[in-house]
Amino acid sequence: MEELLTTRNLSKTYSGVRVLQNVDFDLRAGEVHALVGENGAGKTTLIKILTGVVRPDAGGEISVGGVPVPNMTPLKSRQMGISAIYQDISLFSNLSVAENICAGLKRKGLHNARSVRDTARGTLAQMGLDMDLDARMGDVSLGQQQLVAIARAITFNAKILIMDEPTAALSSGEVEMLYDIVKRLKAKGLGIIYISHKFDEIFAIADRVTVLRDGHLIETGPVSAYNRQKLINLIAGKELLYTPYARGQSGGERLFEVEGLTCEPHFRDISFHVDRGEVLGITGLVGAGRSEVAQCVFGLLKPDAGTVRLNGRVLGIRNARDAIREGVCYLPEDRHTQGLFMPMSVRENVNVSNYRKVLGRFRLISPRAENAAALAYISSLSVKPALPDAPVHRLSGGNQQKVLVGRWLNAEPRVFIADEVTSGVDVAVKAEIHRLLRSLADDGIAVVLISSDLDEVLAVSDRIVVMRRGALAGELEAKDATQERILELSML
Ligand SMILES: Nc1ncnc2c1ncn2[C@@H]1O[C@H](COP(=O)(O)OP(=O)(O)OP(=O)(O)O)[C@@H](O)[C@H]1O
Ligand SMILES: [Mg+2]
Repeated sequence: MEELLTTRNLSKTYSGVRVLQNVDFDLRAGEVHALVGENGAGKTTLIKILTGVVRPDAGGEISVGGVPVPNMTPLKSRQMGISAIYQDISLFSNLSVAENICAGLKRKGLHNARSVRDTARGTLAQMGLDMDLDARMGDVSLGQQQLVAIARAITFNAKILIMDEPTAALSSGEVEMLYDIVKRLKAKGLGIIYISHKFDEIFAIADRVTVLRDGHLIETGPVSAYNRQKLINLIAGKELLYTPYARGQSGGERLFEVEGLTCEPHFRDISFHVDRGEVLGITGLVGAGRSEVAQCVFGLLKPDAGTVRLNGRVLGIRNARDAIREGVCYLPEDRHTQGLFMPMSVRENVNVSNYRKVLGRFRLISPRAENAAALAYISSLSVKPALPDAPVHRLSGGNQQKVLVGRWLNAEPRVFIADEVTSGVDVAVKAEIHRLLRSLADDGIAVVLISSDLDEVLAVSDRIVVMRRGALAGELEAKDATQERILELSML
């Protein structure tokens, strides 16, 4: 098969630390090549080198279509047909869907709104998608943004498509759509590098897989030569076993209760409760209104009707500050725009939600207390690098997610609402976050887990609420819940 891309001896050093070491990687035409590894293994760094965004150490080689490219730049990379969709999708939120698909394309005839729309419509048709071309990017769901980013890459005539965790924000229906698109592109002879922490996906669509660990390429082989456990062990570099934990013991004491909550046009008449010791799962298709419910409880959206009670007392939350004061925490799905302060350090990010805890004598912030808090979460969530002073933007995607989790745990919540909390974290950390959620529930905190990952919902929740198009579609006890039952309720 034709080699579209090869790298030899590719290394990268950041301030003295080698994050990639002598990587020999290749991509063939018509294949999906999965790139897997723990958070911080070097996956994103490798693809940033391929797109010319990051410069590799001297001595590395990149060839595209058999031609060596000594100094890769973003422009060269694009001209050679390499197109990447990063973890933090970068689209223009104030432009329309059509304008985003064509942004940066300086082709003849692409100067008026009509031709922009025609081009965009053509690409979407190729992908088998039907979307509102005039919708403002900022108004469409993260899942749709992801699809627009892919459409943009196709419009650019990409030969090599790189996707960095493309399904992190997609619902199961949209994931199927993405698989379809990937298959079409493969059939057209594109080579696709596919980064993911989700094994189901890798076994569903990849032809080959490469494992990175601590910047080293451990091995490359056909997907058929692996199973889930073998891949997990290679990624971790040791035998890693998943130990399921015990379910919660609910005494029936009502902790948290939402009744008749309505916020048009997002959702209406939503009621649910969390009893002491319980984890409540909320699932449904992306766009069902799950995140909006959380945002409304947290004071980010103004409700039209309904009450929210904590320990029987009605909470009058008008904004996020009220919510935090009442002990309601919300871990947003979109960490880039709603979550972390990227230029600030891990320490500052962990402590920003709880300055009371680190105020020392004379109400001055005690650096020692701040450091201790940051170090505690760095250790329990194994944040890498384990440096409280590291600016968050230098961390890998999954490690940023861990910092966000640490921040809200540090806020000493009474209600903990987590939205797609394990998106982008590796298997080991995912299990750790699940254990943390369980122990919060055991400590008497009302835990609400919003997730599209049905395995996760089924593994962690004691009860599951399913939403569909802004309304309640049903509620299931964990013991009666199955994947099929949930899908049925979500799509009816
Ligand atoms: N600008 C930077 N400065 C310093 N270190 C960096 C920078 N960018 C990345 N790193 C470090 O390089 C290592 C590899 O990061 P990378 O983002 O490639 O990981 P990854 O495999 O994509 O992880 P994830 O699954 O979490 O996205 C990490 O230790 C990260 O902290
Ligand atoms: Mg990454």
